Amino acid sequence: MPGLAVIGYPVGHSRSPAMQNAALEELGLAPEWGYEAVEAGPEEFEDAVRALAANGYAGLNVTVPHKEAALALADEASEAARAIGAANTLSFGAGESTGARLRVAAENTDAGGLLAALPAAPGPEARALVLGAGGAARAVVWALVESGAGVHVWNRTPSRAAAIATELGANAVAAPGQGEYELIVNTTAVGLRGENPFDHLPLAREGFGPSQVVVDMVYGERPSELLATAEGAGAQTVDGLEILVQQGALSLEIWTGREPPIDVMRAAARG
Ligand code: ATR
Repeated sequence: MPGLAVIGYPVGHSRSPAMQNAALEELGLAPEWGYEAVEAGPEEFEDAVRALAANGYAGLNVTVPHKEAALALADEASEAARAIGAANTLSFGAGESTGARLRVAAENTDAGGLLAALPAAPGPEARALVLGAGGAARAVVWALVESGAGVHVWNRTPSRAAAIATELGANAVAAPGQGEYELIVNTTAVGLRGENPFDHLPLAREGFGPSQVVVDMVYGERPSELLATAEGAGAQTVDGLEILVQQGALSLEIWTGREPPIDVMRAAARG
């Protein structure tokens, strides 16, 4: 039985099982295929991955805090995963086994997921502002630079913005001019605990306009204050759940080779 799972710590609140099982059902792959959540701490991570591979699993999604470790244990990795320094998708056994164990291939679909979630691909003239310099920001900055956009990175701790910008081909910015950007992506955790984004990010409530696309990786039951404000000013908005759906669709395609039923996945993820 080809199993699939998301592995993380904690992982209980993940929407991936509902979303992926709905997709497997729609594609007629269930019940042979199934997708579950596996909780494993950092010390157990590699053993858990090897055990799942040995037990016939086809692949895994990997989430916090294991994305760097997932890349490290893989036998091969895509350019995106290597450049970002993290993998959110592993697949097993494509190709020959490595001695006693199956080959592990690593991919990062967070980058492609972000691009797929945008209303249009950013053109070479596009100017993008990425807020934050953590793990989520790395995939976003890499994806946008790769697509040809000019990318500025702002972070509360400026040295981290400078480091990620230098490494990935973007520019750090200390005081971004909000109106200069066609695309603004919040990758920080601001808003997750109900903070006012306009107290913590270099953005003004009245600074959005209709020619902008605003992305907030944070998601919850209701639209974030950042997205609600941007939408009120006529901007197009994308939330973190749409990015989750799109990265999950790309992962599903890698494992099954089938075209993902995006609408079914979106409906299941939004519950
Ligand atoms: P992730 O992997 O989810 O990106 P992370 O590596 O912990 O998580 O990064 C969190 C990001 O949110 C960082 O850019 C962090 O800024 P610092 O580098 O200055 O810590 C940002 N962040 C978290 N809380 C913040 C706040 N209250 N105001 C501004 N930025 C914040």
